[in-house]
Amino acid sequence: TAGPGRDGTQGAPLVIAHRGASAYAPENTLAAVDAARELGCAWVENDVRRTRDGELVVVHDETLARTTDVEQRYPGRAPWRVRDFTAAEIATLDAGSWFGERWAGERVPTLREYLDRLDAHGQRLLLEVKNPELYPGIEADILRVLGREGWLERRHVRYGLVVQSFGAAALKAVRAQRPDVVTGFLGTPAVADLPAYAAFTDQIHPSRTTVTADYVAAVHALKGAHGVPLRVSAWTVNDAADARRVAGLGVDGIITDRPDVIAAAVARD
Ligand code: G3P
Ligand code: CA
Repeated sequence: TAGPGRDGTQGAPLVIAHRGASAYAPENTLAAVDAARELGCAWVENDVRRTRDGELVVVHDETLARTTDVEQRYPGRAPWRVRDFTAAEIATLDAGSWFGERWAGERVPTLREYLDRLDAHGQRLLLEVKNPELYPGIEADILRVLGREGWLERRHVRYGLVVQSFGAAALKAVRAQRPDVVTGFLGTPAVADLPAYAAFTDQIHPSRTTVTADYVAAVHALKGAHGVPLRVSAWTVNDAADARRVAGLGVDGIITDRPDVIAAAVARD
């Protein structure tokens, strides 16, 4: 089964750039994808939401306030929720200046634009369905865009795509519509509940603060929805010593804002 995880050779954990290489470029922009590539990071994580007119865009927060200039551009539109703006309005926003003037003019990418950029570089995607309860039916919308862009073809589905969410229902919806897509549950289900999760997901993605060696072993002992052992990727690990600790617990993947630092910290000869 595809996705962030061990390849059976017990190599170093896979490194996944959180919101792109978001320590070095504004999160969830194409610049953050490019930064990940420049650092040699093949896997990129992002966050997907839906606009008022049904476009899928890559942005973490429920509102546009923190990562764009929306407050200045649309002062009367508080609280500036993504779902209250059209794609055309969002396309005019500056999603880079908040991070540094050098990134002025970066945009909130549509999912389609984001996939195109990944494809241009042969990068792979850990796609987060963000707050699925706010966007009924977003799973089908995401699968439609992925399909149109060629991301549901065998090569991508086997090696280049994982869909994750804090919402179990979203993963079940993805699986019901496209059983071949690899999914990951964000969170740390109780060990007793893991078999129920293994029925609909392939990976468990706990916070770095909750993961233990016993927990990783309990996850690995189960087979996931595609019949291979469940994998574990921990988030968000930005410190070299912490990365070595988490790698020592046996995780398969590490999600980080600083893929260069973490890759160097966990590299094995
Ligand atoms: O990939 C894990 C991580 O992204 C989950 O938290 O808030 O950064 O989306 P958040
Ligand atoms: Ca995320």
